[in-house]
Amino acid sequence: MSFKIRMEETAKRKESRIVLALDFPFQSPENRRNLLAKAQDVLESVHPYVCAVKINHHLILPLGTFDGVQTLIKRTHEEGLLAIMDCKVNDIGTTNQVISEYYYADGFDALIANPFIGWEEGLKPIFDVAHKLQRGIILLAYMSHKGANEGYGQTICDAETGAKTLQYICFAKKALDWDADGAVVGATYPEKIRQIHEILREKIPIYAPGIGAQGGTAEAALEAGARYLIVGREITLAKNPVEAAAKLAASIKRMK
Ligand code: XMP
Repeated sequence: MSFKIRMEETAKRKESRIVLALDFPFQSPENRRNLLAKAQDVLESVHPYVCAVKINHHLILPLGTFDGVQTLIKRTHEEGLLAIMDCKVNDIGTTNQVISEYYYADGFDALIANPFIGWEEGLKPIFDVAHKLQRGIILLAYMSHKGANEGYGQTICDAETGAKTLQYICFAKKALDWDADGAVVGATYPEKIRQIHEILREKIPIYAPGIGAQGGTAEAALEAGARYLIVGREITLAKNPVEAAAKLAASIKRMK
């Protein structure tokens, strides 16, 4: 079963469209056991309110891919959730292939990748690996931070036809052509979510990060067409992460 369908089914079963970004601030490396314990604590308590867990360099760097992080992926799966690696793959194809093979071997169900690198000798090798293993690739389309317009927001000119278009519109079309499992569009830009959703419709779900700490709101992102919300600090750094996750999950349910 494809990652896209597994996400749909998991979200339905968990009655949640929240992807928990398991991020914590820097800690000195000798404290990494505490960091693992903290990540486990949040995962253990918050799992009823989310459908997937997203991990990135916040944990991979201090805990290691096959040590602490693999423990977290196992717990994630035991709780019936999916695990997404936010590594924003961005290198030449042979390197990308090895990156994806390690993360999939670690147990991740999907990876996030950067479409700027293109298809041939860029992303094709990781789509091949993902398809063989029935794992997912989620592509960036428009990032959540302020400087996103400098790259994703540029007007570009098609080298063959000379037609002008916006970079993120081009990436949304590539997500369709390449049969990606998802597209990331910042919750901080609901109008971009709406435009990209017009292209992707129900074929490719939009994942929206940037709720709370970055200024986006769940309501605006979902109303514009986002399917999943990626939420980190609003939950992980809350005084009471369970309460924060439960409150957000309940507010999303009320929107349905
Ligand atoms: P916060 O604490 O702001 O964390 O809720 C958001 C999480 O999502 C990541 N992030 C992104 N990932 N495209 C991505 O693939 C984006 O545009 C984007 N914006 C934020 C961020 O690294 C953190 O883990």
